[in-house]
This record gives sequence, C-alpha cells and structure tokens, in this order.
Amino acid sequence: MFEALTALPPDAILKLIGEHRNDPREHKVDLGVGVYRDVHGKTPILSAVKKAERHILDHQQTKAYTGSAGDPVFNETMQDLIFGIDSSASGRITTLQTPGGSGSLRVAAGLILRAKPDATLWVSDPTWNNHVPLLGGAGVRLDTYPYYDAHKKCLRIDALLKTLNKIPSGDLVLLHGCCHNPTGVDPSSDQWRQIADIIVDRGLLPFIDIAYQGLAKGIDEDVQPIRMMAGRVPEMVVSSSCSKNFGLYRDRVGALSILSSDPSSSKIVYSQASQIVRTIYSVPPDHGAAVVSHILRNTELRAEWAAELGDMRDRLKLVRTMLVDALQEHAPAHDFSHIGKANGMFSYLGVSPEQVTRLKSDFGIYMEGFGRINVAGITEQNVAYLAESIARVL
Ligand SMILES: Cc1ncc(COP(=O)(O)O)c(C=O)c1O
Repeated sequence: MFEALTALPPDAILKLIGEHRNDPREHKVDLGVGVYRDVHGKTPILSAVKKAERHILDHQQTKAYTGSAGDPVFNETMQDLIFGIDSSASGRITTLQTPGGSGSLRVAAGLILRAKPDATLWVSDPTWNNHVPLLGGAGVRLDTYPYYDAHKKCLRIDALLKTLNKIPSGDLVLLHGCCHNPTGVDPSSDQWRQIADIIVDRGLLPFIDIAYQGLAKGIDEDVQPIRMMAGRVPEMVVSSSCSKNFGLYRDRVGALSILSSDPSSSKIVYSQASQIVRTIYSVPPDHGAAVVSHILRNTELRAEWAAELGDMRDRLKLVRTMLVDALQEHAPAHDFSHIGKANGMFSYLGVSPEQVTRLKSDFGIYMEGFGRINVAGITEQNVAYLAESIARVL
C-alpha cells in the first residue's frame, strides 16, 4: 500500500532548525524558529509554571479521562482571560480546551464545515505559514485579503478595508488578535474599529486567532480588539494558544471559544464542537491546561506569571530597538524603523530571498526564506555582528 506514496520535502522551518544545529560556526545566529529566547538564547520554563507543576504533582488525584471539551474550570478561566470577567457576551460564549492553538484551529475548521460548508474564510496576505495548510487541508475554502505593504513596510489598511467591503455576507475573516505572524504589524485601535464597522455592516463572521496574548502591549490590552468585537457582533470564533505566553509549547495548551447569537445556540455549538473533538483526538491533553488553570486561579502565581510575561514583552521591545540602532549605524542609507514599531516576536526584515540565502551561507544567520526574523534570537552579544552582516548583503 505505501509504495503509492512519495517522500515529501522536509518542512521548511524544521529543515532550517537542522541546518542551524549542524552549522559549526560559533557566531551563528538563529532567527528562524518561532519560540521565545531569553538573554542567554534559551527558551526557559517559567518559574510560575514550575511552581504550578509541583503543586499538580503533589495534589492531582487521578489521570482518568476528561471530557472532549477538557476541564470546565480551565475553559471558564481562559474565557475570562480573553473576554474579561464581566463580559456582557459571557452567556453566549462556549469554550473548549484544545491541544494548542493548532488544535483549536482544526476544531474550528470542522465546525465551519458543518455549519456553513460553502463559506469562504479570508486570511491575511501574508499569514502564519500553517494557516493555509491547516485550515485549507481540513477542507475550508480559503481566500486572501491584502495585509502587508512590503515596500512601505506597513499595514495596507486601505486595500484591506476595500477588500473586506467586497466579501460576501456570511463569509469569515481570520484576523490575528495581536503580534501578527509573520509581519509583527497590527492594526491600531482606530483601524480595528474600522475593520469591525465593515464586519458588522456586511454581516461577516470574525475569526480571531490569538497566539501571543500579553506579548504586544499587555495581557488585557492585547485582547481589547476581541472584547470590542464581541460587544458588536452576534457570532465570532476565537482560537487561542498558551504556547508562547506560558512557554508551554510542547505541552499543547489552547482553547476554542465561540460566541453565538443566543445561549441556546451556544449549547448546540458546544455539542457539535465536542463531537468533532471526539472524532479527531477524543480528549485534549491535561497537564499543560492544569498548569495554566492553577496559575490563573492563584493570586500569587498569576502575578508572578504576569511579571514574567512582562519581562518577555520588554525584552522583545528592547532587542527590536537594539537591532534598529545597530542597523542605523551599519547601514545608515536604509530605513529599518519598521522593526522597532512592530509587536511580538516577528518582523519581516525587508531583504530579498537571495539576501536571506547569503546571510545563511556567508554569515551563519538563519531566518525563514522570505525574510521573517524572530527578534527573540537577538542578544547584546550578536546584535552588532547581525547588523554588520545584514549591511554587507544589502
Ligand atoms: C498565528 C498563530 N496561530 C496559531 C499558532 C499555533 O500555536 P500552537 O503551537 O499553540 O499550536 C501559532 C504558532 O506559531 C501562530 O503563530
């Protein structure tokens, strides 16, 4: 049977990780894979996470199955984190624990296919490189709306609004809640309001993917667009991930929240989503979600987590400034100020694929082929070398 299959090329980012690992050059720099790194270049386990894990180890009573929607306490806690504890929409929101943001997106895809198989989901151009394979691969019809102006290095807000204005009523629009991956460019509050105006006017369904809550401006600040939208639309889908903001990447923690037009349709959506889960992975993994739930419900640990997340956010801002300053020194004829204005871990550097290849082969600097950099790979030790190398390929 398997002789009918042919080998696929390795996943681009996994290939890049391997190439970086095997590169013997001491001064090599990894700006590829999308994980946070501290000043030592490590992806640490948060202290709040360690403490919560110890608590769980000592107090957990059983490893029996949870339901397909996971732990109801985790779900309620995540709903509060995203929509706010006093959200007026709360009776209409249902939340399911999922294996990471990716699991959430996959269940949402199943729900879209059941509810409205002919609807198109509009994704930003560009978007996270797994959105199209994951959602399109599940069978959802996809199209794109313009997002990033590679020449001016900013949001194409006029083109974006113009396209939204043409999308047929009932279609879905996938928006990144904050820290847009891969560009780091987010709409301003005013732009979010303009987007919401069109979504409301045209009867579109917002689908917000938030994988970086707390890494742009703050834990509550980063979900303001979601809360604003929830107050204005009858229906909405929100996929969230705890991979980055809790550093729980491999433990697979995420949530799918669906806002329905009334509490009774919310119950129907919950039953459908639970059944979709049953047919894919049956129940979500527990450990990481138990950690998140314990942290968020314990006043001291929650404060400790918020402080640790704040440190990550501050470091991302600092390394952005460091790189912009160093590039200003080494390549004064070029404008890299967009890197300093972007949010979260990613930016488009603004170099060609050929320059990306040269940075790798000649200087041991690794980034995705289209020039997306993870700024978390920048340190005080490598920033001058990085800027000098970039200047040499320009
Ligand atoms: C925009 C976006 N959505 C979803 C995810 C998925 O995250 P997870 O690792 O929790 O599946 C990512 C991860 O990089 C992402 O950048």
